[in-house]
Amino acid sequence: MLFSFVPIATFLLVSAVLADPRREPRHSHFNTAEKHINDAPGGVISWTEIWAGAQLQQSNGTFSSITGTFTVPGISGPTGAGAAAWVGIDGGACNMIFQAGVMFSITSTGSQLNQAVYEWYPDPARVFPDNFTIAAGDVINVTVSASNATSGLVTVQNLSNPQSATQPVQSSYALCGQSAEWIVEDYQFDSSSTSPVPPLVNFGTLVFRHAQAGGPGNQTFGLQGATIVGIEQNGQYLTNASVDASSVTVKYVGPTGND
Ligand SMILES: *[C@@H]1O[C@H](CO)[C@@H](O)[C@H](O)[C@H]1NC(C)=O
Ligand SMILES: *[C@@H]1O[C@H](CO)[C@@H](O)[C@H](O)[C@H]1NC(C)=O
Ligand SMILES: *[C@@H]1O[C@H](CO)[C@@H](O)[C@H](O)[C@H]1NC(C)=O
Ligand SMILES: *[C@@H]1O[C@H](CO)[C@@H](O)[C@H](O)[C@H]1NC(C)=O
Ligand SMILES: *[C@@H]1O[C@H](CO)[C@@H](O)[C@H](O)[C@H]1NC(C)=O
Ligand SMILES: *[C@@H]1O[C@H](CO)[C@@H](O)[C@H](O)[C@H]1NC(C)=O
Ligand SMILES: *[C@@H]1O[C@H](CO)[C@@H](O)[C@H](O)[C@H]1NC(C)=O
Repeated sequence: MLFSFVPIATFLLVSAVLADPRREPRHSHFNTAEKHINDAPGGVISWTEIWAGAQLQQSNGTFSSITGTFTVPGISGPTGAGAAAWVGIDGGACNMIFQAGVMFSITSTGSQLNQAVYEWYPDPARVFPDNFTIAAGDVINVTVSASNATSGLVTVQNLSNPQSATQPVQSSYALCGQSAEWIVEDYQFDSSSTSPVPPLVNFGTLVFRHAQAGGPGNQTFGLQGATIVGIEQNGQYLTNASVDASSVTVKYVGPTGND
């Protein structure tokens, strides 16, 4: 996903820029970073530089929606360390991703910044309005639903409160509905930068519960047959993911030096 942020309203621009030094994360497309290692720990079968979680892959036109619920982790670490937890459609072989979730990162003052975001990649990411505030420990339900190939809705619900926000999204990049994924991402924030991916923050264990994808005609899909995805950087495994019938568990297993 390409987290180059475009705030929803112009008035959000200033606060958003001041709030987060990681303003323009970069997407590394899933398949370009993917490599397969069969003797991987924890049964992980597909490694990427930046994605950990699970992905369903089917023929075109299979998926039109996805949902998942997770607890926003409490994190600590150096300035700039962070991660994003999101659900999306078409992060596989297709050249677009319709996705939404929560980014959490460490600001220059050392505090944790949480932002609800959505993106129809390669269109830029957008931040939900500032009044949708998220704290560590909040239980967040994220749903992405395409009504047709170029438009849809994203809904973020705070199940701890509860509050919800819905945004309509349109794009000129037609979805193909070929994959659905639940991902923790080590995002990069400067789309023009060739610098290394910033440190993945130690997010502990993040579980996407009530994980379900949907397709035309109200068809639903669980996690059977999902590919497990893990993050490997410079030969080091940073995550350990697993799935059961309705949840995706992603555990940080990297160096603890960044917390
Ligand atoms: C990953 O998970 C598997 C299965 O739960 C476990 O056997 C393995 O020790 C874990 N690896 C790490 C590095 O935590
Ligand atoms: C946030 O602000 C938007 C726009 O002003 C408003 O429509 C929405 O109801 C507000 N949401 C909350 C949770 O206050
Ligand atoms: C998450 O939100 C979607 C859409 O609003 C809803 O259909 C689903 O039941 C919610 N899931 C949970 C666990 O609350
Ligand atoms: C897709 O749905 C949106 C919103 O309902 C609508 O405005 C748009 O015309 C539709 N596009 C197509 C190609 O059907
Ligand atoms: C979610 O609920 C918790 C607990 O009430 C609250 O602290 C937090 O601000 C809420 N977040 C949103 C986005 O409403
Ligand atoms: C799936 O859709 C994509 C994007 O429209 C297209 O490039 C690809 O050829 C399609 N694949 C199949 C098997 O139809
Ligand atoms: C899908 O579910 C909605 C709401 O329950 C229902 O109105 C609609 O008829 C269903 N569509 C199909 C194709 O079953």
